[in-house]
Amino acid sequence: MRPDLPSSCIAGGDTRRAMQGRPGQDDTTRRAASAAAAGRAPAPGRGRTRSVRFVQFTDTHLLVDPDGSLRGAHTLPRLRACLEHAARHWFPTDAIVITGDVVHDEPAAYGTVDLLFGELEVPVLVIPGNHDDPAEMRRQLAHEPFQIGGELRTTNGWQVVLLDSWYAESADGEGRLGPRQLASLDRALAQGAEPHAFVFLHHPPVAMDSPALDRLGLLDGAELRLAVERHPRVRGVCWGHAHQALDLYAPGVRFMCTPATSMQFRPRNAAFEVDDRPPGYRVIDLGDDGSIVSEVVWLEGGANLI
Ligand SMILES: [Fe+2]
Repeated sequence: MRPDLPSSCIAGGDTRRAMQGRPGQDDTTRRAASAAAAGRAPAPGRGRTRSVRFVQFTDTHLLVDPDGSLRGAHTLPRLRACLEHAARHWFPTDAIVITGDVVHDEPAAYGTVDLLFGELEVPVLVIPGNHDDPAEMRRQLAHEPFQIGGELRTTNGWQVVLLDSWYAESADGEGRLGPRQLASLDRALAQGAEPHAFVFLHHPPVAMDSPALDRLGLLDGAELRLAVERHPRVRGVCWGHAHQALDLYAPGVRFMCTPATSMQFRPRNAAFEVDDRPPGYRVIDLGDDGSIVSEVVWLEGGANLI
């Protein structure tokens, strides 16, 4: 596990930094950022607890060609629309998390991630998905505000672990954590002093009730679920990869899948089929009492516009 972020990077609810407009940012995002800095209605639950906010984007599938499309989806404008929407409605945020398939097999597209997120003045936590090139991701994003994998601790009592399920021997997109990383996770969760823990990864650790997708899930998902069971401090596990939303409440822990910013797959479907749901992302507020206030945000109309 990597060392913690500096404590100033992840602040409690009282001291969350506002996103400020910076040269190089799109005008719309800059205006949205200043609107957010001026104050927005707090999320449900805020005021009762001191919370730390994560805005999660996943399966952005960026291409080198900014006008490029994938299964009919122009992935860059869709991500930009999600980011601008989040800036208007949910910023300031304490961190952004991008949970894999950041690029679609084209490592040169990591430069776009730097352009979009590099000036936001919040930590941007990134983990690889099956379409990523982890070595290139680490090389191109080896500077602030990016953190690739590892873990961090919030000032309000959460240990947040970023797992790497990229699997070198993947045949068709499946993921695997491997015994070494699972042992490292076990140690990290055993040693964490925080009362609560949260795990991000790319691949679904539970069945999505969709046979084609489930064949490409996490090969050692059962082992991850056992680790979660062994450590009741883990209150949430969140992933992408399946391009759809899921909220599953198990005793003491919430399992969440977040829709893609690019395009969605039809849920509970035997085969792969592109859904007509719009781009989406997730907001997660972690309270100091162990509460998780989270919702999926859909860009209604976004699929038609872009
Ligand atoms: Fe994936």
